[in-house]
Amino acid sequence: MPELRFQPAAGLRGHRPGEPGAVLLDLEGVAVSVAIACDSSVRLRAAPSALAPDDSEAVGLLPWRPSPAEPFAEDDGRILLAFDGPEGAATVVIEPEPFAVQVRDRDGQSLARLSGLAFEPGGAGRIALDAHPNEHFFGFGEKTGRLDKRGSELRMRCRDANIQLDSDPLYVSIPFFLGFGHKAQVPQARGVLLHAIAPSRFDVARADPERVVMETLAGGIDVTIFPGPSPADVLRRFTGWVGRTPLPPLWALGHHQSRWSYRTEREVRALAREYRRRAIPTDAIHLDIDYMDGYRVFTWDARRFPQPKRLLRDLASEGFRVVTIIDPGVKVDPGYAVFREGRGKDVFCRRDDRSLYTLRVWPKDAALPDFNRPEVRQWWGEQHEPLLAAGVAGIWNDMNEPAGWDKDVRLGRLMVPYRFQDTTRLRQADPVDPTRSVPHEHVRNIYGQQECRATRTWLEAAAPDRRAFVLSRSGYAGIQRFAAIWTGDNASRWSQLRLSLPMLMNLSLSGVAFCGADIGGFAWNCTPELYARWIQIGALYPFARTHSMLWVRRQEPWRFGRRVEAIARRALELRMRLLPYLYGLFRESERIGAPVWRPLFYEFPEDEQSVGVDDEVMVGPALLAAPILEKGARARDVYLPPGVWISLDDDARYTGPRQVRILAPLERVPLFVRGGAVLPTRSPTRHVGETPSEPLVLEVFPGADSETEVVEDDGESTDYRSGAFARTALRVRDRAGGRLRLELGPREGRFAVPNRRVRAVFHAALPPRQVYLDARPLTPGSTLPGFSWADGRVEVFFEDDGHARSIELDPAP
Ligand code: GLC
Repeated sequence: MPELRFQPAAGLRGHRPGEPGAVLLDLEGVAVSVAIACDSSVRLRAAPSALAPDDSEAVGLLPWRPSPAEPFAEDDGRILLAFDGPEGAATVVIEPEPFAVQVRDRDGQSLARLSGLAFEPGGAGRIALDAHPNEHFFGFGEKTGRLDKRGSELRMRCRDANIQLDSDPLYVSIPFFLGFGHKAQVPQARGVLLHAIAPSRFDVARADPERVVMETLAGGIDVTIFPGPSPADVLRRFTGWVGRTPLPPLWALGHHQSRWSYRTEREVRALAREYRRRAIPTDAIHLDIDYMDGYRVFTWDARRFPQPKRLLRDLASEGFRVVTIIDPGVKVDPGYAVFREGRGKDVFCRRDDRSLYTLRVWPKDAALPDFNRPEVRQWWGEQHEPLLAAGVAGIWNDMNEPAGWDKDVRLGRLMVPYRFQDTTRLRQADPVDPTRSVPHEHVRNIYGQQECRATRTWLEAAAPDRRAFVLSRSGYAGIQRFAAIWTGDNASRWSQLRLSLPMLMNLSLSGVAFCGADIGGFAWNCTPELYARWIQIGALYPFARTHSMLWVRRQEPWRFGRRVEAIARRALELRMRLLPYLYGLFRESERIGAPVWRPLFYEFPEDEQSVGVDDEVMVGPALLAAPILEKGARARDVYLPPGVWISLDDDARYTGPRQVRILAPLERVPLFVRGGAVLPTRSPTRHVGETPSEPLVLEVFPGADSETEVVEDDGESTDYRSGAFARTALRVRDRAGGRLRLELGPREGRFAVPNRRVRAVFHAALPPRQVYLDARPLTPGSTLPGFSWADGRVEVFFEDDGHARSIELDPAP
């Protein structure tokens, strides 16, 4: 963004009621609206002249839910707006001179203060938020660097950039952050969205440690405060407006294998065969740009992929789904039907002189569909028909920042893109009123999101009973409604493996639950050790895909020798085993916006020491991963937050808060389960479609009481939305003297689960004197029901027919 000259807004000159729940303010020509939503979020919109219509729904956010709050003026000239409802309470105090807006909670505590509203003659806007000295800042979408962004300057302009350790901005722009810190030992979280689809900039308490300054290039100021008090409350409110991650199909939670490119049908078949022959769990294969005919989207290369339908059918019979890449750039080629039809229907973006805008991408000159127009989104969606008919299971939307370059330059033997792309004369439709055109820069940050919206909306309409899978490189706030995100072009470097942790945690805190980084790294050659360490944690990324670049060493597990292959198999088998747990996390995400990957402080907000930790991650509430992130390291220090922790591989028991040194030979990734947790797991299979020998194993970790649930459904259809799922409540009761009780509630819901043998594994348990099932003593042995005890684990086998069950361990005195 250019340096801008801002004029501060004047003081308050008048006010009147606005839309429901809002007050309109006049600041000598500057128009401001302040509104409270029924979930108690507070939104301030401001513009140098009149307020433009709210564009949030037009760009893919959910409807703003107004409260019935009404303004009233106090004697001292302050205006108050207050609301108290079942989802929260907020009071807004508008200070007239100098103009400022204060948000308070039900107890009168200040949640936020916005001040310093200013505009620049070209339409750019600025506003500041008070930061308290103990506050840390997270989120901001896809960002490099540390987890806590205090002290940095961050930019939002979707851009194709190789990830360097300090690259900013990157492909995704989510102008949302979570402020979190302790005020007199009490944790406090709040969220802030600067809704701006034009580029924006944040000074995160850098120039002034007590202020976060936010600027947008165009479109006025539109900022919303989401109250806490916990990070989970903030995420629930934020995603309640921008949207949540729809439950993915189960296969999409398996491992994906990708490469630029698997170039021929033969190569793809050989890849699939190797995976199955070596029994390494994998569910999806991605086809990068070379499957197409000359990079023409929605086509197949007739020589290299002569019979896609047959290929995909054969792969499906082996349990592989195929995801194909689709870039937005349509090759300018009058002989190519998609381009011809698109031009005939006038779907492509134009320059200010109305000429067709083209940019250089893989097919050389390409035209860009204007996804801000609903009919163009519809047209784009329809282009997917042949892919769907061929059996393609998901769509990978790349280069949608949009990315391209002005020319190719020679670098040694290679021609590489020179990544400057002049968009100054590019125009697009105004999303609110598509008959009007606006500079592309003013709407740039939703280009990729609107493409994914087109794709997903059409996929869902074309196959309404099937859950869609879309993967995107670019996105804006709410992208999770339409697509999963991978973090783009990283590199096979230890520093980038390390970076993936804070990066994915911040992306997760920005609403994107389904996210991952290219396992093994995209650019450069991966070493066996790096690959081993990467897949160990990559197998626990919410979205787990291995991908690598043209020219580099192949990144299938068996390319790194037998030892590393075994490590990869084990890591992916662990993911398979954890699928029922992961699946439950994704359901939570769809229901309440909870992320799958969480920084420690999200789960332990009381614990001040957790705030700085960014080389460990909580996968849901129960599993802490402390991966090895350094070359040659065979041990690491792990910080364990308060409570009991049990090491997943040897059942060693620790009590936090404390720092422990954990040995980690190449085969081992340090993983800990929170005491009291029950992890629903299954036995691993080579893909999710295979029936596991044990569909449900309940792994119980003593140390506290807990309540959770396991949810089962067909994993594929949308029937769960109308109640076709089975839900079993699980309760752990940890009594004095090592007495442990696990209760299964009666199975509820409308999804039929056949009677089956279930195993409950009690980790770190004392040798039992007696084991009871439904209060009746069990005899040792594996006949049903029965139990065994070995190596500190008690295993109980029983028939699960959907009725409530209780298991109790009574240890020997
Ligand atoms: C971009 C993508 C990368 C892909 C390549 C070729 O660089 O980020 O994942 O492999 O384009 O399509």
